Amino acid sequence: MGSGISLRCPSCGESPASKTVFRCVRCQRVLEVNVAFARLTRADFETMRESRDHTIWRWFDFFPVNDRSSIVSLGEGSTPLIHAARLGERLHIPNLYLKNDTVLPTGSLKDRSNSVGLSVGMELGFTTAAVMSTGNAAASVAAYSAAAGLKSVVLVPKGTAPSKIIQARAYGASVIVVDGDFDYEVARLYKAAVQEFGWYDCLSSNPYRDEGKKSYAYEFVDQLDGRIADWVIHPTAGGTGIYAMWKGFKEFLSLGWIARAPKLVAAQSEAAAPIVTAFEKGLTDVEPVFARATVAESIQVGNPVALGWRALVALRESKGTAVALSDEEILEAQFLTGSLAGIFAEPAAATSVAAAKRLRAAGVIGPDDLVVCNLTGHGLKQPETIGIPESQLRPIAPTLEALREQIRRSEG
Ligand SMILES: Cc1ncc(COP(=O)(O)O)c(C=O)c1O
Ligand SMILES: [Zn+2]
Repeated sequence: MGSGISLRCPSCGESPASKTVFRCVRCQRVLEVNVAFARLTRADFETMRESRDHTIWRWFDFFPVNDRSSIVSLGEGSTPLIHAARLGERLHIPNLYLKNDTVLPTGSLKDRSNSVGLSVGMELGFTTAAVMSTGNAAASVAAYSAAAGLKSVVLVPKGTAPSKIIQARAYGASVIVVDGDFDYEVARLYKAAVQEFGWYDCLSSNPYRDEGKKSYAYEFVDQLDGRIADWVIHPTAGGTGIYAMWKGFKEFLSLGWIARAPKLVAAQSEAAAPIVTAFEKGLTDVEPVFARATVAESIQVGNPVALGWRALVALRESKGTAVALSDEEILEAQFLTGSLAGIFAEPAAATSVAAAKRLRAAGVIGPDDLVVCNLTGHGLKQPETIGIPESQLRPIAPTLEALREQIRRSEG
């Protein structure tokens, strides 16, 4: 690793002796990566913006990778930032924008993290990447490992639906089903296995991987062309998105490339809202909760131990807030996003739109505010939440009359 890239404990300042140590030996906090970028000038900013490379790698100098030849990319980044006029009208937010990360290579935001994570993994010389996950992270780690030529191993708890692991299998991952609870038994085995077998840890306890989501901040600045959003709302589980976006904005602030940053909002499901609870109680760390079942399966995390506390710092520094949504609000937001904006987001992803609606109705978001909702995962990841009435599936006679009747019924 080059001299411009270093690891440091964000709590006690300790630096590790090795680049492959991810936690502080003194206080167990996940270390933070620091990349030396202070020499960059506004001319560099313009060069990055004008680059023909539309992946996150146009911002190469902000990532902890030494050599461009190590980059593992599937074309992630520069996802559309769409002015959603019809949805905005419905929610009384005329300046509503949707960041459509459903179009990322494996269909979720995890690709931002794993493109950076696996690129560093290559530089560190790992041969097997590992993750414990039931969904988006598994698929993404598997895909980037495949592109890099690394083996990948995914640990999932017993009872995980095959549909959740099919995508990871398709990319060649070894999927191991473990007889145990996800947050505790699977997690314990995963930790022990990473140590025992020397696998490359691709969870949010990998500080390199977490850098990838800084690209959200860079892309917003680029795509809004000089304007800065008043609010950015992010579906939140481990807290990486909130933490990393804030870090990205602070980097641009420190370089003078922007004059202010948005307020960040963490959107969680009521069934798994430890960050919202800690934010509301004014805590500096997150107390783990038992995550109940929710339609927002991808963000059903009760113990965001690695970065939860840093997400709290980001929410407070940015003067943002945190919102917990009911399944009903989440499904309504999913429907509105599909039918008024043309984007099929998975329920977890639609929490950002549900939060925008709630905050606007409460007057927290003002009528002229520029609001960005991150849509972090594709609806096809979890299609079964979309109900189709039996009557619509029943075949009709092949006549215009029957067709007219069926259209009338389906619209009614
Ligand atoms: C669809 C989706 N949205 C959002 C997240 C949020 O993750 P984080 O809070 O770590 O940014 C995840 C992953 O856990 C996810 O799968
Ligand atoms: Zn420490």
